[in-house]
Amino acid sequence: MKKVHIITGGSSGIGLECAKKFDEGIVVITGRNEQKLIRATEELKQAGINAVYKQGDVSKPENLKELFEYASTLGEVCTVVNSAGVSGVSEELRQIFEIDLLGTENLAEMAKDYLTAGGVVILLASMMGHVIPPNPAYDTYLTYPSTEGAVDALIEFSQHRPDVAYNFSKRGVHLIAKRFAWEYGQKGFRILSLSPGIIMTPMSVQALEAHPDQMNFMKSVTPAGRFGEPEDIANMVHFLASEKASFITGTDILVDGGLTLKLVEMMNSAEPEE
Ligand SMILES: NC(=O)c1ccc[n+]([C@@H]2O[C@H](COP(=O)([O-])OP(=O)(O)OC[C@H]3O[C@@H](n4cnc5c(N)ncnc54)[C@H](OP(=O)(O)O)[C@@H]3O)[C@@H](O)[C@H]2O)c1
Repeated sequence: MKKVHIITGGSSGIGLECAKKFDEGIVVITGRNEQKLIRATEELKQAGINAVYKQGDVSKPENLKELFEYASTLGEVCTVVNSAGVSGVSEELRQIFEIDLLGTENLAEMAKDYLTAGGVVILLASMMGHVIPPNPAYDTYLTYPSTEGAVDALIEFSQHRPDVAYNFSKRGVHLIAKRFAWEYGQKGFRILSLSPGIIMTPMSVQALEAHPDQMNFMKSVTPAGRFGEPEDIANMVHFLASEKASFITGTDILVDGGLTLKLVEMMNSAEPEE
């Protein structure tokens, strides 16, 4: 049986770069825009990757089901990388939660019915998830976002700000990986999240254009002295998907050039004294 690697959001940025690393077996990429998928599949084939696409929206459970059913007809599903996501720059608030948070929960819930022994799910989160401090008031909603009323409550916690909604969603991705780790382990699978820092993709270029001063400041305080490249993330994803990472599950891996350290330091020093 052929090994199958599913990459949601594989038509652009981090997902597309990750897809290029899986040169054994078949890579299935997914996204909403078919033209982008056709172009990316062509690019992958030219890079020697056995790639196919299945159009779909990760926030729609029926689309995810179709994706997994299709992938299963191609071989054994070994890897699922969930790189589909939208930023807090231009999206509508509820849509950010639906795609970045509920889409992740749906995928984690469904993938375990299709993975083969030793399979792994890698959920793209963000360093911004680390700037939201733990708090039981919202962490239960973030861990179980499909609970009735959870998204409405999270919109309130985000103070109706899309950028904050994005940060909350990404903390939720960390918590969802932890929530499923035990169940996945019982089945011989792994699940974890990966938090990139600022990576030069169409998503961050959009942020750079919208907030140039803020983004350039972030670069100036990044210990690694640069923005990340999609390959920085793809290399880690490839390692995490391999046998060499078989003891890594239920945790978040930061690949951020050290920027989170600085962000948390700055947040703490900005907190008003009691
Ligand atoms: N770039 C960064 O600096 C950075 C930093 C931290 C975290 N991340 C995370 O890394 C992931 C990838 O980001 P990126 O920078 O590679 O973004 P990107 O270049 O904008 O790519 C996003 C991908 O997700 C797909 N997508 C978006 N919504 C979808 C949906 N509802 N269903 C299916 N596919 C969907 C897009 O295709 P369609 O639009 O055609 O659907 C596209 O293929 C995201 O989760 C992002 O939050 C990125």
